[in-house]
Amino acid sequence: MTTTRIERIHAREVLDSRGRPTVEVEVTCAGARPGRAIVPSGASTGTFEALELRDGGDRYDGYGVQTAVRQALAIGPQFVGQDASEQSRIDATLTELTKAWPTSPYASNAGERLGANATLGISLAVAYAAAEGQSIPLVEHLHQLWQQVFKAANAALLNQGMATSLLGRKPFMPLPMVNMISGGKHAGGNLDFQDYLIMPLGAKSYPQALEWIVRIYWRLGKLLTKAGYEGVLVGDEGGYGPKLKSNEEALNFVVEAISAAGLAPGKDVAIALDVASSHFFRDGTYRLAATGDQQLQAGDVIDLLEGWVDRYPILSIEDGLAEDDWLGWQKLTQRLGHRVQLIGDDLFVTNTERLREGVEKKVANSVLVKVNQIGTLSGAMDAMRLALESDYRPVISARSGETEDATIADLAVATGAGQIKIGSIARSERLAKYNQLLRLAENSEFPYYGRAIFRESKLS
Ligand code: PGA
Ligand code: ZN
Repeated sequence: MTTTRIERIHAREVLDSRGRPTVEVEVTCAGARPGRAIVPSGASTGTFEALELRDGGDRYDGYGVQTAVRQALAIGPQFVGQDASEQSRIDATLTELTKAWPTSPYASNAGERLGANATLGISLAVAYAAAEGQSIPLVEHLHQLWQQVFKAANAALLNQGMATSLLGRKPFMPLPMVNMISGGKHAGGNLDFQDYLIMPLGAKSYPQALEWIVRIYWRLGKLLTKAGYEGVLVGDEGGYGPKLKSNEEALNFVVEAISAAGLAPGKDVAIALDVASSHFFRDGTYRLAATGDQQLQAGDVIDLLEGWVDRYPILSIEDGLAEDDWLGWQKLTQRLGHRVQLIGDDLFVTNTERLREGVEKKVANSVLVKVNQIGTLSGAMDAMRLALESDYRPVISARSGETEDATIADLAVATGAGQIKIGSIARSERLAKYNQLLRLAENSEFPYYGRAIFRESKLS
């Protein structure tokens, strides 16, 4: 008989899509198949993210995760005998262990900290193990967990919010936000801005959305090649990485590609940007390099983005300003928050404290949710709950370093998050998620709403 009683926890080092080591954990419940999860990893990481523990030294140029694996193996036994379906209890223990680690008997040297790559590996694998133990699909188990979290949300706040008339209330297929052109830290610094993405608003189903995306991506490759740019080789997230003459030229190519695919820019397919601006922000100045050395203040960046919103069908902008530039973010939100989705990634790092500060300061209107930024599944769900209570839209996101692990596809559907950002439709660590979404889309109980996820909002 299968149960959800944890019998064994195992961890090992495996490699991610950049060939860098990462943590894989297997949790096995009595009589069931093991649940397995692999931890992702960012390149353009936020300063306030949970700790990604790397070994340092020569091995894998310091990127090894043997210490994090050892930590997972050390704490694993204390979960044996516990109920894997009690995710919040297990995650609370992981959070306590993280706080107490430097003085804990498990730490092998003074001052050692517990890696979020160790805790997240256990946290996610526990969810898989609980699903295996109950012989139910992961999406169903995650939905049960999410319902517990969402039930505890402040109903009065939820009902005030417009984002939540649909979001969070039931499982459905997310609107994908898909990378077409990559820049910044993901493509060797060819462009200053990190992602030029598309959102297939007008598709009638998720499979149709995916077909549109692929068509646009292929047209874009041809257009780039024809113009004498690199239209084949791709960046970390599978987007093309051309060395264009300016940051704005990328927008023109994406609009052209949407049209070349026979679709209407803005109506069928909107554009999204991840500026990832923390990475060109130094000493209070935004330093752009694509068109020669440009030194901008927050106000200049806002002017630039506003000009683009005027001229291009842009619906969403992520990290338009830097993770510490709260004042700039307030101005950005005042100027553009009623016209576009403003997502905080490095700004909020899936952290409820940072998000609460942002809500109080009236900064952004959406939060990127990356499970490894906070180190447990429950931590990510808590951030989603606070987002919905605050009328902020959650966008479930992958990292630039990914693997065959497709948990976030199930998570996005199970929580009714509304949107997902995985990268492009090249590279199998991305396709693992898009393909899992195709499987989930076979279930008629998981509809695709397209642009309707923005209904009742200022953005629709
Ligand atoms: P990262 O990039 O995983 O390198 O942080 C993703 C993002 O910035 O959204
Ligand atoms: Zn980002």
